[in-house]
Amino acid sequence: MTLLDRTIPLLLRGYAWLPAQPRDAAGLVHTRLLGKPAVAFGGPDAVAFFYDEDHVHRQEALPGPVLDTLFGRGAVHTLDGPPHRVRKSLFTGMLMDAEENGRLTDLVLRHWREQAAEWAERGPVVLFDEAAVVLAAAVGEWAGVPLAAPLARGTAEDCVAMVDGFAAPGPRHARARRARARQEARLAGTVTRCRSRDTAAVGADSVPAGRSGGQSGSGTVLERIARHRDADGHLLDPHTAAVELLNVIRPTVALTWFVTFAAHALHREPALRDELRAADTPAHETAFAHEVRRFYPFAPFTAGLAAADLDWHGRPIAKDTLVLLDLFGQNHDPELWPDPYRFEPARFLGHPPARDALVPQGGGDPRHGHRCPGEDIAVRVLAALCTELARTELRVPAQDLRILLHRVPTRPRSGFVFTPLPAAGT
Ligand code: HEM
Repeated sequence: MTLLDRTIPLLLRGYAWLPAQPRDAAGLVHTRLLGKPAVAFGGPDAVAFFYDEDHVHRQEALPGPVLDTLFGRGAVHTLDGPPHRVRKSLFTGMLMDAEENGRLTDLVLRHWREQAAEWAERGPVVLFDEAAVVLAAAVGEWAGVPLAAPLARGTAEDCVAMVDGFAAPGPRHARARRARARQEARLAGTVTRCRSRDTAAVGADSVPAGRSGGQSGSGTVLERIARHRDADGHLLDPHTAAVELLNVIRPTVALTWFVTFAAHALHREPALRDELRAADTPAHETAFAHEVRRFYPFAPFTAGLAAADLDWHGRPIAKDTLVLLDLFGQNHDPELWPDPYRFEPARFLGHPPARDALVPQGGGDPRHGHRCPGEDIAVRVLAALCTELARTELRVPAQDLRILLHRVPTRPRSGFVFTPLPAAGT
């Protein structure tokens, strides 16, 4: 039986589309997307199956419009096998270091506090926009690409545009393409200048890169990407290096979605804000951050292609079928999360999430598969900003805080407008 292509219903219904699809007895959705046969599933067993490289690969899985907006051509997301492992080691080396992540978190807090003083003077501001600028300034400084004030705002707007427009036809998509082209061109120049400095420093005509097929191991994010050698022993060409530099900067700025959702949660349930303020421990703020990432919709699913003819609990999946892992659905599966549509940070207190249960940033082992290598950063920065938000007295005027599920990615429609109030006693 040939199934009808469901790309348009997916684009129209967004997050609500996949959970509404019928499943067979093995839990598989059978459908057709982008002109290809497709299946979708979720749950910890599905995570293990999906992240096995003999089952699902990524090359040619991502459509051009997603590469030209969200990830970039030649990105780590599109690689398999040894080329993926070597490129991925660059990211895990840079992004999974607790000390470095603490430094980034401190920079975010410093920029946040500097900006907060200005917000109080400016009157009502839009949290979504302002948090993006704070994150861009902090990650730029951290990565060795410092951004003076106007550049931080421009970079923040471009990074937001790339994420906002990847799944939207029309002007949002066109804006995303322009933003990516602009940032790739700028950062390719930055990488080239970094390499020239390196060359001048060693007085030779080659970049003092690390081992063949590995990473340089130290230095800023910019330097490490500029010196990285891929599995073939070659440096990344400036465009690909810019793509990967953006694959650190863009998703860090995208934390503004989660920060805005956190403000939404604290505003809707002031008791949670009081609890977070009173507890003021890393365990509480981390639990809050996990629940924001579980509860609110961001990445709907991740996808690859069946690497061979596969069998999922007795159901055949033909080679080259598009395979979707339902991240949003799994984060709301009542078998994993009792009362899944209740925002309840306490579910993570004393219970860190099992590796393949909580999957807002993918599943499996980030060092080997395609799971997000920025998850530690996301949790740490978000946790710190949840506490910062909980401690701040805000005036929140009437506004449209609806989060529409047909829009991908979604956010409170107003972006969360607020004015910080002076702390008592100041
Ligand atoms: C805003 C919060 C974030 C969300 C929702 C998110 C989500 C994701 C998802 C769903 C994937 C794909 C997983 C897969 O296909 O299996 C991914 C991959 C990736 N993420 Fe994140 N991420 C976030 C933050 C970050 C941060 C802060 C960084 C870097 C500082 C980062 C860097 C990456 C990279 C480089 C990959 C590609 C990994 C690979 O293909 O091996 N992400 N992320």
